[in-house]
Amino acid sequence: MCGIIGIASNKPVSINIINSLKKLEYRGYDSAGLATLHQNTIIEKKCSGRVEELEKILFNSPSNGNLGIGHVRWATHGIPNETNAHPHSSDIVSVVHNGIIENSDELKKKLELKGSKFKSQTDTEVITLMITDLLKNNDPLESVIKTLKQLKGSFALGIIFKNFENYIIGARRGSPLAVGYANNENFLGSDSYALKSMTNKISYLDDGDICLLTKDKIDFYDANKKRINKKIHLLSDDENISSKGDYKNFMSKEIFEQPITAQNCIKEYIDNLKQDINIYNFPIEPNKINKIILIGCGTAYHSCLVAKYWIEELTTIEVEVDIASEFRYRKLKFNKNNLYIFISQSGETADTAAALDICKKNNVKTCSIVNAVESTIARNSDWVLPIHAGPEIGVASTKAFLGQMLVLYILSLKLGHTRKDIDDKSYQHNLKNLKLIPNAIKESLKIESNIQLMAKEFLDAKGSMFLGRGLSFPIALEGALKLKELSYLHAEGYPAGEMKHGPLALIEEGLPVIVIAPEDKYFEKTLSNMQEVIARGGKILFITNQKKVLVNENIRFSIKVPLLDNMLSPILLTIPIQLLAYHVALLKGCDIDKPRNLAKSVTVE
Ligand code: AGP
Repeated sequence: MCGIIGIASNKPVSINIINSLKKLEYRGYDSAGLATLHQNTIIEKKCSGRVEELEKILFNSPSNGNLGIGHVRWATHGIPNETNAHPHSSDIVSVVHNGIIENSDELKKKLELKGSKFKSQTDTEVITLMITDLLKNNDPLESVIKTLKQLKGSFALGIIFKNFENYIIGARRGSPLAVGYANNENFLGSDSYALKSMTNKISYLDDGDICLLTKDKIDFYDANKKRINKKIHLLSDDENISSKGDYKNFMSKEIFEQPITAQNCIKEYIDNLKQDINIYNFPIEPNKINKIILIGCGTAYHSCLVAKYWIEELTTIEVEVDIASEFRYRKLKFNKNNLYIFISQSGETADTAAALDICKKNNVKTCSIVNAVESTIARNSDWVLPIHAGPEIGVASTKAFLGQMLVLYILSLKLGHTRKDIDDKSYQHNLKNLKLIPNAIKESLKIESNIQLMAKEFLDAKGSMFLGRGLSFPIALEGALKLKELSYLHAEGYPAGEMKHGPLALIEEGLPVIVIAPEDKYFEKTLSNMQEVIARGGKILFITNQKKVLVNENIRFSIKVPLLDNMLSPILLTIPIQLLAYHVALLKGCDIDKPRNLAKSVTVE
């Protein structure tokens, strides 16, 4: 949700802070700031807008100092402007924060009664002024520990102190925080992605941990000021820093690298010599699994909805799907033979992480399907199945969604075969089809020029509807989400069979309706629903994998992707809906990689 960086070094830090903030902008980008310490003075610079605005400010008035903190913001409390940008500083303390302090109003009133003066509308400034007040009678570490004990809610913090030039204090509860080690300098960051261009030696703070970081060492404490040790992880060297290459933005790169990322993912899980899926270390003996609960948010939730059909089709296991922010507040009934699977590209989504925590506290077995294998969700799961998609920078998820579906399909297939719910013949048939996916994706991407024409239908549209049945219904939801989050156009995803129960009222002359209808058992039924829409003036944009082309003068556009086994249709039907959202957003001049109001990893609830 927000990005944090802190650097303690033997050389000036402001340039490295700026460069790290640029890598963190995917986490939030409505304002930015930094504070350095130089000759016992806190030098704070901040602005609304992007990091490049902050860079211009520094160019005109450089910030000296070998110790500093920086922040990119996704606003929670207070509008995105310079005053509310982080850091929040008093004359002796400066703080950057990611998270939400739920009792900030109550604490603010107490501080104001003691004479504290607030400048911003943020919850973070409460932390700054509370520490400032406590420093009158405590050292910095004590002041921080006493402050944290009064906070309700989540935080990842970076804090510097005017009279203590050589260290940064970091603290974590509910929002991710990592540290990095180098020669004559050490780093604090929201995630390893911000640090990996400066070091490959990383430690992760857990909830309740506090660190005291100087250029020479990093000490860790628990909430009772007891020294603790943290493991040093070596980041895998294939975690290379993303670049756009020849693409104009990360999203187009990530859409077009899907044949490769699909290939990489399949290669990781399919043993070509044994013609088998090499997944063995199940946390529950497969024949003992009586229910699978799939949990995620947004696009990750949509991959759960697709997987429900696959698990029902390939196994006899009962399946439930839930949105993480709903799951975490339900009155849940746990069973030791339930397997809870958490889908998360970033592995840092607060609602998904909280849902996982509840399962851990109830001693049930958990699995996470993630892109970031060093993430909080991955580290807290009993079992991790990586999607091997490589860093996804575009806020709108594309290759990660495809990777999530691939791994869920592979897992469903393995479970079905291991439990003998499907026979060897069916297993081998499905494995053979699986290997055809990378090329089929490459073929699907060739429809881009048709999609560019199709995109023009949305320029004057006041909304749109995506319809699908069965495995295509979650893809209809995903298509609507993609269009919303990239082009800011209203879009609804609906089960085609539901139209007559209300949403048909939305249909009017010229409204674009995207009908997703592969050659499956629902095809004829979906065509009938399409007729209902045509009869009311809807403009049909048809997406299928049908060999025979459907001729109907009311179909404005017809897009065809390759026909593989119908079980795999969601994977290929995703390509046109990704490209459609992309090209509509391009036509509308929207920011493709950083859509307004969004963030890549939603680490607050
Ligand atoms: C994806 O296009 C969206 N930006 C968003 O819904 C995302 O899928 C959701 O926030 C979950 O993120 P995660 O996969 O990192 O947990």
